[in-house]
Amino acid sequence: MRFFVDSGNLEEIRQAIDWGICDGVTTNPSLLAREEKDYRFSIREISRICPGPVSAAVLSFDEAPMYREGKDLARIADNIVIKVPMTIDGLKVCRRLTSENVRVDVTLCFSAAQALLAAKSGATFISPFVGRIDDVGTVGMDLIRDIVTIFDNYDFPTQILASSIRNPNHVIEAALSGADVATIPFRVLESLFHHPLTDAGIRKFSSDWESAAQKLPVKKVIRGEKAS
Ligand code: E4P
Repeated sequence: MRFFVDSGNLEEIRQAIDWGICDGVTTNPSLLAREEKDYRFSIREISRICPGPVSAAVLSFDEAPMYREGKDLARIADNIVIKVPMTIDGLKVCRRLTSENVRVDVTLCFSAAQALLAAKSGATFISPFVGRIDDVGTVGMDLIRDIVTIFDNYDFPTQILASSIRNPNHVIEAALSGADVATIPFRVLESLFHHPLTDAGIRKFSSDWESAAQKLPVKKVIRGEKAS
């Protein structure tokens, strides 16, 4: 499963890429609004930092302006993926852009029927919002599992981009369910590295060696030093 970072913050994106485990970026208007920069400028900067796909959302909701905006955003860089809403206009734009070789991410997906429509419209990615479904009292991950089954049944090439990920368990569940990608907020991505037993293990290895080294007849041999 590929990992995208769900962020509009350049520092977070740089760091996630530096860790070597980030394959792409998703943004949305709410994330970019937090950065208080020009919308197009932010997307251009992100597309320069990240070699992988960068989902950039259109801000229009009617077909004609949405299409124009999608074309304009796609011109920023080759790795831009145009994010359109899961609406009739959004899917018409999806069909049109994909026929012009522009990759599209259909966002705000909350049902398997919507995912099926996005796949039939040629979407490269479908973004089901797991956390927001959990928020209203149903199990978001069930939707990922249903979409995986449907896409497998018909060999749809549309990739399932598990979105609205809120915690490490969502990441594991998305991987177990067969999602192609999980887009993960920076704080959740960082938390994946940690485990209290890893920290305790490091402390124990270090203190055991430090106390043994005190008793050595020769100069302490630690951290690659040569014995004297
Ligand atoms: C996906 O592309 C969206 O940006 C994102 O995952 C939304 O998550 P949220 O529900 O935490 O806002």
